[in-house]
Amino acid sequence: MAMVKLDPPDQLGMSLGEAMFTQRAIRRLKPDPISDEDLKTLMDAASKAPSSRNEQSGRFLVVRDRDRIRRFGELYREAWWAKRPAGWTPEGIPEGDLHLSAMRLADAMKDVPLVVLAVSASPGQASSVLPAVQNLMLAARALGIGSVLTTLHACVTDRIHELFKIPPEAQVHCCIPLGYPEGRFGTTTRRPTSETTYYEEWGNPPPWE
Ligand SMILES: Cc1cc2nc3c(=O)[nH]c(=O)nc-3n(C[C@H](O)[C@H](O)[C@H](O)COP(=O)(O)O)c2cc1C
Repeated sequence: MAMVKLDPPDQLGMSLGEAMFTQRAIRRLKPDPISDEDLKTLMDAASKAPSSRNEQSGRFLVVRDRDRIRRFGELYREAWWAKRPAGWTPEGIPEGDLHLSAMRLADAMKDVPLVVLAVSASPGQASSVLPAVQNLMLAARALGIGSVLTTLHACVTDRIHELFKIPPEAQVHCCIPLGYPEGRFGTTTRRPTSETTYYEEWGNPPPWE
C-alpha cells in the first residue's frame, strides 16, 4: 500500500477553533467552480482522518460534471421526499426552518458545483468514513467553501450505483454538496455540554456549569 506524508497546506491557516465554531450547514451554494488545487486540499484533509486499524477504507467520489450532478440531483430530490412522512407538506413551516432549507437544497442539488460521495469499499465501516467527512468539511470551512452532510434513501441506492459505476459491495454513507456560500458562515446554536455530557457515570453532571 503506497503511503504519503503531507505537510499542512498554507491555505488551511484558519485556526481550528474558528473553523469548528463557525462551521454550519451551508445549503445555498453559488455555482462558481472550486479549483483543482482547493479540491486536492479538501481530499488531502480527508485522507488525514483516523480509521479503524488505519485501513483507510473510505473512498471518495468527486463529481463535477454538470450532467452527472443534474442526474444525481434528481435522485437526491426523490430520496429526500421518500424520507418525508406520507402527506408531509411545507405549508405553515416558518421561513428559516431546517425542513424548508433542506427541501430547497433537494431542489438545488442539481445546480451545485461539486458533490463528494463518501463511500466505503465494503458494507458498514461508517465509523471509518465519517471522521474523514468531518475533516473534509472543516477544511472546506477554512477555504471559505460551504458544505452540508446529507444522506440518501434506499429507494435510490441501485440507481446511484449505476450512475457512478459504484460496485455493488461498496456502500455510500453520505453525500456532501460543496460550493461558495450564498449566505454567511457564522455561529451555530447547540445544546449546552452540561446537557449532553455525563461524568464518570451515566446521568452524573460534568464538573462545569
Ligand atoms: C447524519 C446527518 C444527516 C444529515 N442529513 C441531512 C439531509 O439529508 N439534508 C440536509 O439538508 N441536511 C442534513 N444534515 C445536516 C444537518 O441538518 C445539520 O448538520 C444540522 O442541522 C446542524 O446545522 P448547523 O450546523 O447549520 O446548525 C445531516 C447531518 C448529519 C450529521
